Amino acid sequence: MDDLLGRIGIALPIVQAPMAGVSTPAMAAAVSNAGALGSIGVGASTADGARAMIREVRGAADGPFNVNVFCHRPAVADAGREARWIDRLASAFREYGAGPPRQLREIYRSFLEDDAMLAVLVEERPKVVSFHFGLPSRERIEALRAAGIVLLATATSVEEGVAAVSAGVDAVVAQGDEAGGHRGVFDPDRPDDRLGTLALTRLLVRTLEIPVIAAGGIMDGAGIAACLTLGAVAAQLGTAFIACPESSADEGYRAALFSPAARQTVMTSAISGRPARCLANRFTALGESIDPRSIPDYPIAYDAGKALHAAAKASNEFGYGAQWAGQGAPLARSQPAAELVAVLRSEMEQAPRRAGSK
Ligand SMILES: Cc1cc2nc3c(=O)[nH]c(=O)nc-3n(C[C@H](O)[C@H](O)[C@H](O)COP(=O)(O)O)c2cc1C
Repeated sequence: MDDLLGRIGIALPIVQAPMAGVSTPAMAAAVSNAGALGSIGVGASTADGARAMIREVRGAADGPFNVNVFCHRPAVADAGREARWIDRLASAFREYGAGPPRQLREIYRSFLEDDAMLAVLVEERPKVVSFHFGLPSRERIEALRAAGIVLLATATSVEEGVAAVSAGVDAVVAQGDEAGGHRGVFDPDRPDDRLGTLALTRLLVRTLEIPVIAAGGIMDGAGIAACLTLGAVAAQLGTAFIACPESSADEGYRAALFSPAARQTVMTSAISGRPARCLANRFTALGESIDPRSIPDYPIAYDAGKALHAAAKASNEFGYGAQWAGQGAPLARSQPAAELVAVLRSEMEQAPRRAGSK
């Protein structure tokens, strides 16, 4: 097993998860300066937007950081399905005095076909690039590797992990079903075994010849230590960082995270068009009565989801937000990202002695 942390240049086995729309360059810089791996999510950004974010991190930190892109199958438009979806949501829009959008757009491009994004990554050379929802072509992987970039890919099954190894990535992020945000499954139309973090991490550690980073439901140092015991080289935490002041989560999202709502998270496709774990809210409730096949492709459906959230929020209703969170949500803390990293470190170091205690 190669020394992944040494190659990346981080002291701590902690990765702050890329969270498009929630994590920020300021968060990634703070985490990087604290000795862990900070990440920015540029999956929903243009190439120019990604370049600006990369430069913002560099302006505030000297250390390594990760830039995450989305490798989903590009959306297939279906005007009939989209029109029916708009009709389905129309009453919710009207409740907030708004009209639904007339039509829906593919609001961002997949990295699979975004040449400008590849050019920015090759020019800017962040230390790490990570893939979510699949793998890019061999040519893209080779271009990134030739630029000296360490490559990570989310895997939710052994099959995806094996594919990531064959594609030439350096490590996989084992994303358990507990995880907040979008499930990284490569093909959402195939049956999903929904493996938990513990089983998936062990399966990937035992099967693959590259390092494994565990993700999903990890909220504190005891959780990180447990993942290291399972053979992971690091843990990737998303939900734990949502309430940091550096996050761009809005006040409704933060309030929900610290309310009893955090005890129930729901996997829903209704918000974006792909399964994602979210705090139980008005949108996840709406999603429960919906046939997933009636939802437009990702991210076309997300155009409607974001518009509905904006309409409701204008009337002070935050319950239609994409309030992504993992099953460990009730353990979230609100403190600056650098302080959180320091606390995680000290909890991790104490963990073996605390075994068996609460
Ligand atoms: C708000 C939020 C946004 C996320 N956005 C991304 C993303 O842009 N790219 C990505 O690879 N993973 C994303 N994820 C998933 C994380 O990488 C990771 O798998 C997950 O946060 C781990 O589970 P946890 O939230 O229980 O820690 C997101 C997760 C959350 C909570």
